[in-house]
Amino acid sequence: MRHLLSTRELDREAAIALLDVAEDMAAVQEREVKKLPTLRGKTVVNLFFEDSTRTRISFEAAAKRLSADVINFSAKGSSVSKGESLKDTAQTLQAMGADGVVIRHHASGAPHTLATSGWIDAGVVNAGDGTHEHPTQALLDAFTIRSRLHGAASRGRGLDGVRVLIVGDILHSRVARSNVWLLTTLGAEVELVAPPTLVPVDMTAWPARVGYDLDDALAARPDVVMMLRIQAERMHAAFFPNSREYARTWGLDDARFDRLPPTTMVMHPGPMNRGLEIAARAADSPQSTVREQVANGVSVRMAALYLLLSGERGEA
Ligand code: NCD
Repeated sequence: MRHLLSTRELDREAAIALLDVAEDMAAVQEREVKKLPTLRGKTVVNLFFEDSTRTRISFEAAAKRLSADVINFSAKGSSVSKGESLKDTAQTLQAMGADGVVIRHHASGAPHTLATSGWIDAGVVNAGDGTHEHPTQALLDAFTIRSRLHGAASRGRGLDGVRVLIVGDILHSRVARSNVWLLTTLGAEVELVAPPTLVPVDMTAWPARVGYDLDDALAARPDVVMMLRIQAERMHAAFFPNSREYARTWGLDDARFDRLPPTTMVMHPGPMNRGLEIAARAADSPQSTVREQVANGVSVRMAALYLLLSGERGEA
C-alpha cells in the first residue's frame, strides 16, 4: 500500500489484512510498554487544515507508538493563514524529509492531489477531506464491529451479513461515505436513514438502501446503529426546521433507545451533539461503542502507518 486515500479503492483482502494488523497493534496497547521500534528514524507530519481533536491526537499517538518522529502542523498559526498554497506547504515537507503525511483538509480531493501531484514522495493518509472520505474512521468502525461480534476470534473475518443502519447527516458526512464502501466490501448490508434534505441528490452508485423513517428502520432490528453528527459548520441553508424537531424525528432519543434489543451496537464517530442526534442514555450505555471506537482508532492508525511506511517506499 502506497497511500490510504479512500475506502472505495480497498478490496476485501486488503481491508481484512489491515484490520488483522490492527489486532496485533491492539495487543501491543495492552502491554506495559506500548511502543514498537518499527518506524524509528521515519518522520510523520500531521497536516491539519481543519479542526480536529481525536483524529489528530490519535494519529499522533499511533505514530509515536511506532517510534516515528512526529511533526504537528495546523493551518492556524502557520503560513497557510498567510495564503501559502498546498503546493508550497508540500514542498516544505518534502525538503524536511517527511516519510508520511497525514492530511485533513476542508477541500474534498486535497489528499489525492497531494499524493498524485509529484510534489512529495511521502505516503499520504487521508484523515478526512471535506465531505468526501475519512478512511481510517471507517476502518476503526469496522474493527470495532468485528471485535464486538467475534472478540479474540476476529482475525481473518469480514462482516458478512451484519446489518448496519447509518442515521443522520449523510449529505455532509465523509464518515458515512467511507463506511458505505468499506462495510459493504466486508460483506455487511448498509441502510441509510436521513431527512430527505440531508441525502445526496444522486445515490445510484452507493451500495446502500435509503429510507426516511427512523422508527421503521429501527423496528427491523439492525445489528449496528451508527448515528452521525449534524455538521452545522458545513450547513449554509436550513436543512431542518430546528434542533428539537430534528431530535424528535431523527435522533436516537431515550424512547427509541429503550426499544432496541440489548445486543444492538450504538456507534458515533464523535464529536457528539448530545440531545440532538443522540441522547446521553444511548451514548453512555453498555451498548455504546463510542469509547472503544476512540481506543481502536489508535490501533487502526498504527496499522495504516505501519503498512504505508515500513519497508522500502516507492514500490507499487
Ligand atoms: C468525524 C469527522 O471529522 O469527519 N469526526 C472524527 O473524525 N472524529 C465526524 C464528524 O466530525 O462528525
